[in-house]
Amino acid sequence: MSIYGPYEQILSDILSLTTDRIKELNQQTVQDKQPKLYEHLIARVKTAESMVEKCQRKGYPVTTESALRRCRDAVGIRIICNFIDDIDRCLYQLRQADWCEIIKEKDYITNAKPNGYRSYHVIIDETVPYQDVEGNNPGHFYVEIQLRTIAMDSWASLEHEMKYKHNIKNPERIGRELKHCADQLASCDVQMQTIRQLINSSEEGD
Ligand code: GTP
Ligand code: MG
Repeated sequence: MSIYGPYEQILSDILSLTTDRIKELNQQTVQDKQPKLYEHLIARVKTAESMVEKCQRKGYPVTTESALRRCRDAVGIRIICNFIDDIDRCLYQLRQADWCEIIKEKDYITNAKPNGYRSYHVIIDETVPYQDVEGNNPGHFYVEIQLRTIAMDSWASLEHEMKYKHNIKNPERIGRELKHCADQLASCDVQMQTIRQLINSSEEGD
């Protein structure tokens, strides 16, 4: 049996349920004649092997309880938005939603990581129609949601790939270049947001 014990199937059901709930927020927004909340989203359950590795790294006992309660990213969803403002709109919708409560936020957009990484991370406590580790039904499960723009996402993918290339000759240079790239992309995101506002205000004017 894996570290997830009897919860393996439930985690993948929660992944689908959460994805559907977020899609529903988007559909509602579009129905209300607002621009879509996000471009696309991706969702994954952390593999059992990665979860074991994470528990060991954090010094937690390798148990189902650690995997679901101490680690809070067994279920992860990444929401990729067109514009920076859309991230705020998504956050607003999540704050209003009755099926979840945001219990932790990390704003790596206002405070980018030193390497240039940008993204807004939240951990939600989600209410689901499944029994949880404590025996509650409806149960409570944690889900990690990462919100980023397309530009932030493309940078993160590239940087993630570089991380696993250990035999590179000049890591400092590459780190500097990556940081520079991240900052340029961030400035593009701001410009794109401005362009959107200009388009919106010119539409209102005519
Ligand atoms: P973990 O215990 O590893 O989850 O650490 P944490 O909870 O302190 O991490 P944090 O919330 O800062 O980031 C978790 C996730 O964000 C990672 O699994 C990545 O998906 C993403 N992430 C964070 N920092 C970086 C980064 O520098 N580069 C990239 N590509 N992704 C990052
Ligand atoms: Mg994390």
